Amino acid sequence: MLTLLAALFPLVSCDSGDIIDKTTAYDSEGHTVKLTVSVAGLDELSDKYTLALATFKSGDNYALTAYNIPATTEDNGAVSIIAPHIDSQVSTVELAVINRLRQRIVTLASINMDDYSDANDTISINAGTVDVRMFSIIQQHVFDMSCIQCHGGNGGNGAANLNLTQGQAFNNLVDIPSTRKEGRFRVVSGAASQSLLHQILAEGGEDILHYNHTEVLSSQFKNDVAAVRTFIDDWINNLKTSQE
Ligand code: HEC
Repeated sequence: MLTLLAALFPLVSCDSGDIIDKTTAYDSEGHTVKLTVSVAGLDELSDKYTLALATFKSGDNYALTAYNIPATTEDNGAVSIIAPHIDSQVSTVELAVINRLRQRIVTLASINMDDYSDANDTISINAGTVDVRMFSIIQQHVFDMSCIQCHGGNGGNGAANLNLTQGQAFNNLVDIPSTRKEGRFRVVSGAASQSLLHQILAEGGEDILHYNHTEVLSSQFKNDVAAVRTFIDDWINNLKTSQE
């Protein structure tokens, strides 16, 4: 450390202007990330959301920049998207579903820029295939992560006879009566606010069931939890009612 300082000081004192110029030049150039991905179900994502290659500062849940995957992308077709000149403050470049405020809902792939400090200008990444149908996102990024440990993941039907594992969850939720609250439904198609799923996850839902679900999503989603709840509501509100 001492030798390093000794080497730096003379440079700073005799030519500091030059050093600042170089730093600025680096910041404005930055790395470029090129991500290739095959996307399924983009046409089923509500228009309140976009799939984007987005840059985030550490701890910030709003993207600094976001490059949208075009809604016209062919289903299951490969698309390449470029995030150029990534600012040095950016800690992750993510393939993410974001809302209109550029707030992150879920991350589908993430690149930690620290891992690439020595890389060439362009970092090319293949993210494989992603499924962005709203229910697929909820299944993979909410139920599989935060719910199935109690709801069916260990075999059996799960707490309250509600199995939320892949292939089971939809049919166990949508327009199915609650086993705990008489007269209510787990999910009411087209009506989030009437759905027990919405009510137990929302603030104020602490005492509806014996088990308080309002904090279940907090450790996984931290600052993004309100946006994730809204995403679940939008999925419910977009479900066609049985009369339609
Ligand atoms: C630590 C265990 C645990 C976790 C994690 C958990 N639950 Fe539950 N869940 C329960 C229990 C226990 C009940 C039954 C509560 C009661 O009897 O009042 C329940 C009940 C429910 C019900 C009501 C079912 C009905 O028929 O009335 C829903 C809906 C539900 N959970 C959804 C979820 C979702 C969605 C998640 C993840 C975001 C989740 N749960 C995570 C334990 C859990």
